[in-house]
Amino acid sequence: MTLVEHEQALSRKPRTILITGGAGFIGANFVHHWCQHYPGDRVVVLDALTYAGNRKTLAEQEAQANLRFVHGDICDRALVDALLQEEAIDTVAHFAAESHVDRSILGPDAFVRTNINGTFTLVEAFRQHWKAHNQPAHFRFHHVSTDEVYGSLGPNDPAFTETTPYAPNSPYSASKAGSDHLVRAYYHTYGLPTLITNCSNNYGPYHFPEKLVPLMCINILMGKPLPVYGDGQNVRDWLYVGDHCSALDVVINRGTPGETYNIGGNNEVKNIDLVHMLCQLLDELAPELPVRPSSKLITFVTDRAGHDRRYAIDATKLKTELGWAPAQTVETGLRQTVEWYLANRDWWQPLLSAEYQAYYEQVYTSV
Ligand code: NAD
Ligand code: DAU
Repeated sequence: MTLVEHEQALSRKPRTILITGGAGFIGANFVHHWCQHYPGDRVVVLDALTYAGNRKTLAEQEAQANLRFVHGDICDRALVDALLQEEAIDTVAHFAAESHVDRSILGPDAFVRTNINGTFTLVEAFRQHWKAHNQPAHFRFHHVSTDEVYGSLGPNDPAFTETTPYAPNSPYSASKAGSDHLVRAYYHTYGLPTLITNCSNNYGPYHFPEKLVPLMCINILMGKPLPVYGDGQNVRDWLYVGDHCSALDVVINRGTPGETYNIGGNNEVKNIDLVHMLCQLLDELAPELPVRPSSKLITFVTDRAGHDRRYAIDATKLKTELGWAPAQTVETGLRQTVEWYLANRDWWQPLLSAEYQAYYEQVYTSV
């Protein structure tokens, strides 16, 4: 923490924050960030511990007196009501979601349930809680969303801005779009102090193995094929998860209620180039690899259904209005990430369970 950040932390009013999905990838990184930067705040984590949730990630924070972990579902209205009331929550940071596009293609039901019904349950419960306290101006409902709601860009299209029309293409992004619309409506209809952020692809520590970056790192370490969908020319705008957390911090503390902010790393990379970067990093940093150079493992496989070609975020609004900029480039962030996966086998190895293998077989039958 810099001196300026430390002074800001001391001068602000403490929050009592409910973090949903705090045992998942970004949620857990955010819990780490918040506990480190705001040790005086009360933190309550609500997480259903689906396949993507891992309570071990929060072990250090749970040992601190100011964090309470609640194993529960955001769709459980009675539980959400009770937590808001008994903990006197003034801020919600809502991460809980089904987040993987490939799983949404295999089974969209859970996506509609958690992402739409769950967000509705949470925002409606928070509205009632806010009303019961005479609508305090400092209450915040922060909804964490994705750039995928804007659909797919052509090679020369300008990057997504906050006014780009929604055009979601997968059951995942459609369910996130639905949740964004609900949260937006709660500001316009009821004046609930909501904030929405739409962020690009994250990578970093504690990322579940199903996603591109950890999947490639782990497969390289195990000498398994590296499945690249289609022609590998799809483009994503990569952001280190710590930078996402610092952006959320700025928006929750200083953003204008009712506003949406795009968050992105200005790091557009083709999938095939990203996989080559990971191969090079592991060739350099891993002492023993079953196959070297690991790029020999690259295997082009059947494309994802409805695969969006390109995402790119224009984060000008966040920069000009709130002064946020990412600290990592894709080169520095990927290196840190690879180092983390090399040093933390005991975190990811147990996740390669029979359930995960069954999922893997289903998605990668053509590998
Ligand atoms: P994740 O899948 O790693 O974690 C999701 C967490 O939510 C898990 O801990 C899971 O147990 C929990 N959860 C799921 N259903 C729940 C329910 N019904 N009740 C309570 N908890 C539940 O997801 P992530 O990658 O950390 O993404 C977090 C949020 O950020 C999501 O809303 C996602 O849409 C958004 N987002 C993700 C990215 C990315 O690149 N991963 C980018 C932009 C936005
Ligand atoms: O853009 C933000 C989104 O980024 C988030 O909203 C999602 O929650 C998050 O999962 C992520 O979605 P993507 O579908 O872009 O991420 P994923 O890691 O699944 O895939 C990244 C790219 O790599 C995508 O173009 C598909 C491709 N891919 C992915 C996997 C898992 C492969 O080529 N092979 C693979 O095995």
